[in-house]
Amino acid sequence: MSRPKFVAGNWKMYTTRAGAVDLAAAVAKGLPAGGKTRVAVCPPFPWLTAVADALKGTPVAVGAQNCHFEKEGAFTGETAPGMILDAGCQYVIIGHSERRHGFGETDGLLNKKTKAALAAGLSVIFCVGELLAEREASQTEKVLETQLTHGLADLSAAQLEKVVVAYEPVWAIGTGKVATTEQAQAAHAFIRQKIAGQFGEKAAAGLLIQYGGSVKPDNAAALLHQPDVDGALVGGASLKADTFLAIVAAGG
Ligand code: G3H
Repeated sequence: MSRPKFVAGNWKMYTTRAGAVDLAAAVAKGLPAGGKTRVAVCPPFPWLTAVADALKGTPVAVGAQNCHFEKEGAFTGETAPGMILDAGCQYVIIGHSERRHGFGETDGLLNKKTKAALAAGLSVIFCVGELLAEREASQTEKVLETQLTHGLADLSAAQLEKVVVAYEPVWAIGTGKVATTEQAQAAHAFIRQKIAGQFGEKAAAGLLIQYGGSVKPDNAAALLHQPDVDGALVGGASLKADTFLAIVAAGG
């Protein structure tokens, strides 16, 4: 099955309001003519509305970097999926390793967030990936299997159509140590096979699986041409329009 490429920029806790709006506008303006790659940017929460407004009428989608699982309530500092949708977003990143390992988010919690985000009408970029010690102990597949089994538990194949999986080996995030094309392809093929077991062959064939972890203009094309790599979730290189656009261009 031929799948579209999808490149998303995760701006993490970077940018000013003005810088975010300028970056979004520069991305939209610089999209390669005739390019088929889908594009999204995920700014910090306070800039979501401003960035969504700046991108109105362009093909660039907007995503948030996290959400709560309740629709509303006394949850100081949290943001409901419906609020994210209302801010002009189409996507939310769930389960980024910085949430899993920095904030103790468990597979069970991430499952609740995923279900709530989908119920609100958002698409989900669901992140999975192993620590270096887990890879060195040959636990990569076991880790991915556990994260997918529990994180995507109770979803239907129809709901899975609004989920993108991002494979982000934790040892490659922000380190400059990119996975080799063979390592990325092997993990992505494993994820697709696991999804086929969980949701069926058709759902697996249509699933977009992004790679994330030190994606840069000089390694993007090789990664994005792997048969099971359908795009990239880009951190550091998404903070400059020219590097992000070069990665988008690598998707075709
Ligand atoms: O969400 C993006 C990933 O954490 C990758 O970040 O491209 O800076 O390594 P990076």
